[in-house]
Amino acid sequence: MSETLSSLPVDFARQMVDWQRQHGRQSLPWQNTQDPYRVWLSEIMLQQTQVSTVLDYFPRFLSRFPDVAALASAEQDDVLALWSGLGYYSRARNLHRCAQEVMTRFGGAFPQQAEALQTLPGIGRSTAAAIAAFCFQERAAILDGNVKRVLTRVLGYADDLAVAKHEKRLWDLAQDLLPAKASDMPRYTQSLMDLGATVCLPRKVQCESCPVTGLCQAKRQGTPLAYPVKTRKLKRSSATLWLLWAVNAKGQVWLQKRPDTGIWAGLFSLPVFDSEDELLAAWPQGQDAQYIAPWKHVLTHRDLHLHPVRLTGPVQRMPVGEGQWVDAKVWPDLGLPAPIRTLLMS
Ligand code: ADE
Repeated sequence: MSETLSSLPVDFARQMVDWQRQHGRQSLPWQNTQDPYRVWLSEIMLQQTQVSTVLDYFPRFLSRFPDVAALASAEQDDVLALWSGLGYYSRARNLHRCAQEVMTRFGGAFPQQAEALQTLPGIGRSTAAAIAAFCFQERAAILDGNVKRVLTRVLGYADDLAVAKHEKRLWDLAQDLLPAKASDMPRYTQSLMDLGATVCLPRKVQCESCPVTGLCQAKRQGTPLAYPVKTRKLKRSSATLWLLWAVNAKGQVWLQKRPDTGIWAGLFSLPVFDSEDELLAAWPQGQDAQYIAPWKHVLTHRDLHLHPVRLTGPVQRMPVGEGQWVDAKVWPDLGLPAPIRTLLMS
């Protein structure tokens, strides 16, 4: 069964650590140091930037700001200038603020626990764990994008990571997989990063080079590329709709059948317009126009801002477009969009 951890943690950690010693990256400039300033700086730079680019920026930044005190007392403009080209400038602003908080809140020394590190600007849970593991050998799990890929594959973890509780459970599993010996934490943490960056790749897997291929559920299933499972959260959008609420002398309302596609497809509705001008142009009869207070109708992926205009009085001619006058007693039996139904029946 996937996702159960019996002897897996022991084997997994040992094989990862052994592999890192033989095949992992050993001499990046932020390795072989336990200086949290350097490790922190490298982790922030590496968050959205390739190693090859960071190799260029990291030494330049360090020679200008050799320690956290120097960075804290810098002008923000100077920090941003040194960052220029790396992108995601909120990282640089947070970096500067973080240095200042290390000075003011922690007397110039980075805290040693992941939990405390996480309270600093720009340091999320995974970055905090990386710093604590690399510098202070804390048994804290990292879980960035690469590590999520590695672990979901090894564990055969198929739950959708877009769901918060599923991601939370993966954090728990990542914690369960940590080596028992704290002194293995730096190399183990580096092994996860290295495997994710060089072997267990998003669209290409090199299972023949992987130290844990024998433990890997995704490999056993033959579907490593199916992991991780994460549905895209749809971005919400919004639209403004002007609703023409025409009422004739008999109290009937002019309704149209909506087209087969788009908003309220196939339902009966008041005529819909993109703007007030278009609405009034469609009904140029000088009737009394009553502007109903607009309101927001929330759909799954869209907010609708509805602006009904009620037109009453004598009708000289039929309104523009397809439609029909519909008696109030028929409304309950029609397929009407919920907000239109509410409006008419209120
Ligand atoms: N990506 C994030 N952290 C890293 C590290 N310490 N070494 C290499 N790549 C990384």
